[in-house]
Amino acid sequence: MSNLFYKYYDILFTSKDYEEEVFKSLEIAKKYLNHEPKNILEIGCGTGSHTLELAKLNIPITSIDVDQEMITRCREKIKENNISNVEIYDKRIQDLDLKDFDICFSLFNVVTYIPKFNELVSFFNAIYNSLSDDSVYIFDCWNGSAALLDPPKGKEYSVKNNNEEINCKLESNTDFINQKTTLRYNLRVTKENGEVIEDKYDLDQYLWTPNQIKDALGLAGFTKFECYENFNLNEVATDKHWKIMFVCQK
Ligand SMILES: C[S@@+](CC[C@H](N)C(=O)[O-])C[C@H]1O[C@@H](n2cnc3c(N)ncnc32)[C@H](O)[C@@H]1O
Repeated sequence: MSNLFYKYYDILFTSKDYEEEVFKSLEIAKKYLNHEPKNILEIGCGTGSHTLELAKLNIPITSIDVDQEMITRCREKIKENNISNVEIYDKRIQDLDLKDFDICFSLFNVVTYIPKFNELVSFFNAIYNSLSDDSVYIFDCWNGSAALLDPPKGKEYSVKNNNEEINCKLESNTDFINQKTTLRYNLRVTKENGEVIEDKYDLDQYLWTPNQIKDALGLAGFTKFECYENFNLNEVATDKHWKIMFVCQK
């Protein structure tokens, strides 16, 4: 049986407003792009919640993820919604040879999953090579500087799903030397008949500082990039902003 984290991923993040994030990301991308996008590349599509919103644009969308369980759910959602303009790859962007995209998004901390600096550079370089001239790449991620000053804390919450209740006790453990936070999702599902299932899942998140990300983008070939508070072009990122967004142009 797959881990409960995967089974309940969409339920655990039910309060995340995917529609609004895609709307804002597109609004920002269009400020930089001087024409309507002819296609979009989405990296780290996960279970496809942003993908479903992007598909509404009726232009070709290419969505990729390395996680087989996530991508399986993404494929199911695309099929269930009879979507025909999304192509899905279960590979790292570094292992694909994609070309000529007008916009690339990697939303919801994809970059925070990358463990090594040289991998960060090769990830950005693969994106750079997948873009057409004058295109835009936008991503959000944790601000490593803010997280090292004020490390993420644990929390507990419950969500109802049909006749089940899902309780999530999130524990957070930060390793300051290796710039890494491990999030432990302790999940407890109570079924309608009272049966209880428990499982846990550890997710490592890497605390890249804005400076490290800028260095990696530069080494990957990008010369034009800015770092803002998440989805807010009016606020240049500071160590007070826990979530940040990069807007890069090729
Ligand atoms: C927090 S999830 C976000 C998923 C989805 N965008 C969402 O908002 O639900 C980050 C995803 O990035 C994927 N990822 C990390 N590194 C990747 C890479 N090099 N190429 C493709 N996907 C990657 C992970 O497998 C994970 O599913």
